[in-house]
Amino acid sequence: MTKRHAFFLVAVIGLGYSLRPQAQQGQHGQAPGGDLPHMEHRFDNPEVSAKSFDDPARDVWQMPARVIAALNLRSGQSVADIGSGTGYFAIALAKGPTAPRVYAVDIEPAMVAYVRQRAEKEGLTNVFAVQGAGDRTNLPESVDVVLIVDTYHHLPNRVAYFTALKQRLKPSGRLAIVDFRKGAPGGPPDEFRFTPEQISGELARAGFTLQAQHDFLPRQVFLVYQVK
Ligand SMILES: C[S@@+](CC[C@H](N)C(=O)[O-])C[C@H]1O[C@@H](n2cnc3c(N)ncnc32)[C@H](O)[C@@H]1O
Repeated sequence: MTKRHAFFLVAVIGLGYSLRPQAQQGQHGQAPGGDLPHMEHRFDNPEVSAKSFDDPARDVWQMPARVIAALNLRSGQSVADIGSGTGYFAIALAKGPTAPRVYAVDIEPAMVAYVRQRAEKEGLTNVFAVQGAGDRTNLPESVDVVLIVDTYHHLPNRVAYFTALKQRLKPSGRLAIVDFRKGAPGGPPDEFRFTPEQISGELARAGFTLQAQHDFLPRQVFLVYQVK
C-alpha cells in the first residue's frame, strides 16, 4: 500500500465512506459550467452508515446542539436537512428547543425509510422523510432554513441545484452549509473539500450571499447564506 492509499483509507473510514470498487461508487465528476468537482458515492446501507454517522464520539467535534443553536430558529419555523443520512441532525433538530417541522431529504431510498422509521420509533411527529433526487429536493413546501451537512461535496451541478432551491426557501430563508475543511480528520478526499471562498463563489452564482460564518467547528466550515 502506498502512503497516498494509506491516507485515503484513514480518511474514508472517518465518516462512513465504505470502500467499494470504483465502478460501484460511480465517477467523481466535474460538472458542466465550471462548478467545483463533486464526489459520487452511494450510501445505501443505513445500518453500516449509522455506526459512524450516529457514533456518540462524533458529538465531540460535530457539536450538534451548538450548530442548531447557531441557526437561531424561531418557534413555528421549519427546516430541511438535505442529505439527512440516518437522521443525525434531522432528529436532533426535531427534538430541539423550538421543535421545528423537519424535512429529512435524502437521495437514497434506504436512508429515507430509515429516518422515517427512526422518527416513528422515537414518537416524533414533526419529522417528514422526503425522497430527494439528484437535481431537486422534492420538498413539498418552502422552509425557513435549509441545512446541508457533509453533503455539499456530493451534489452535482450545484449552481443549478441551488438556483432551483431558492423556490423552496421562504422570503427571509437561510441556507446553512457544514462541510469538511481541508486537512481535517475524517470525511472525503481533499479534492472534495472546499474553502469558504470557493463555496461562496459557487453559491453567489446561484444567487446567494454569505450572512454568517461560524468558526467553532474544529473539522468543518459552517457557512450561512441568504438570497441576494
Ligand atoms: C456523508 S452523508 C451525511 C449524512 C448526514 N448529513 C450527517 O451529517 O450525518 C451524505 C448523505 O447525502 C446523501 N445525498 C447525496 N447526494 C444527495 C442528493 N442529491 N440529494 C439528497 N441527498 C443526497 C447521501 O445519500 C448521504 O445520506
